[in-house]
Amino acid sequence: MTQRPIRPIPLTLGGLPDVNDILGRDQSASDVEKLLLGGQSVLLTGDRRTGKTCFSRVVEHGLRRRGHPVVRVSAERASFGDFVDALSREIEKEFQLTSELQRWEPTVKAGPFEARRRAPIVGLDQLLTKISERGTDKRVVVIIDEVPILARAMEQEKPGAGAAVLDTLRRVRQEHGSGLSMLLLGSIGFHHIAKSSPGSLNDITKEHVGPLVEADGVYLARCLMAGDSINAIDPNAFAVAVHKAAEGIPYYIHHLVRDTRNHIGVHGFAATSLPAQLVDEALHHVDDPWNLRHYRDRVPEYYPDREELAYSVLDIFAGATGALGVNDVMRLLAATPHAGETSRRGLIDLIELLEQDHYLRREGKANSFRSEIVRRAWMATWR
Ligand SMILES: Nc1ncnc2c1ncn2[C@@H]1O[C@H](COP(=O)(O)OP(=O)(O)OP(=O)(O)O)[C@@H](O)[C@H]1O
Ligand SMILES: [Mg+2]
Repeated sequence: MTQRPIRPIPLTLGGLPDVNDILGRDQSASDVEKLLLGGQSVLLTGDRRTGKTCFSRVVEHGLRRRGHPVVRVSAERASFGDFVDALSREIEKEFQLTSELQRWEPTVKAGPFEARRRAPIVGLDQLLTKISERGTDKRVVVIIDEVPILARAMEQEKPGAGAAVLDTLRRVRQEHGSGLSMLLLGSIGFHHIAKSSPGSLNDITKEHVGPLVEADGVYLARCLMAGDSINAIDPNAFAVAVHKAAEGIPYYIHHLVRDTRNHIGVHGFAATSLPAQLVDEALHHVDDPWNLRHYRDRVPEYYPDREELAYSVLDIFAGATGALGVNDVMRLLAATPHAGETSRRGLIDLIELLEQDHYLRREGKANSFRSEIVRRAWMATWR
């Protein structure tokens, strides 16, 4: 690989970097772009903060460079009405369709749980159909971020409502696939909704967004260090230590560089052992600066009716020295107050959900925590 020149990149820490400062995603983004332009719709999966939204920005950039219209909307909205509203505003902006959209407004705005429950679904259908008609020359790509958040909120309010959105999106893909592709994003929870709407994601190719490979993670760390004027005795060795401590997750790389800057402000220098020490501090900090308690806090929402069992199973995996098989977990559960709460079959189902929710990885028939950072964060909540 040719050596890339180190250039200053500003810290964004959860914000939106300039598309040129999103590193290490070019090849896989161009693969996704090809799938979309070939008529496939794609779901980007991956744990929170792995960089899915950034990844989709790189895809969007590539599509626009080739002259394809892109409509991007986040589904993290207070209501379905707000979502459709935001979608229509984005469509308006992309295609200047103002007058036509205004005619639909009454249909589009009614919430799904009001008297005209079906109406907004029809509105969503109409909106997407309309834009697919624009895709005869150049395929249109609709990017919907955070789909599971909206679908779950709707499902909780009214069983079936979240699934209806996924079904509508699928129907539009099937009926108008010649002019439109979708790029959907979501870190967790898709399968919890998709269960009540089997098949709603069957036509979609799943692409996993994982950590950066070492060359890219180290390069990002070096550029962020340059952006913050951080000097280390051996900058490359320091950047390698940052990448390793961050497990290649760009969000944590940003955090570690920021924390290094603060550390140098107090202590004057940064040893190569610092990144690992900073991770440790972040894991035990009362303010939870990396927002890792989220992994514990989301358990009741995702595993209703068996949250205590889910906590126990995760405790068991977190405390294990190696990967555990189902029988090992059954045996260890027997020593907890949750013995007898699940059958072996039920435990397998739960473990599979924990895999899909990015807690656990599978190694052959056994499982362990997918991330050492998350495992240690889990243990840090033990008292
Ligand atoms: N490839 C990258 N290069 C440089 N920085 C990145 C990259 N990917 C992500 N980041 C940094 O990590 C932060 C989080 O990324 P992003 O918001 O894309 O993650 P996400 O997977 O969409 O998170 P969430 O699950 O919360 O939606 C960004 O604000 C940015 O600072
Ligand atoms: Mg995101």
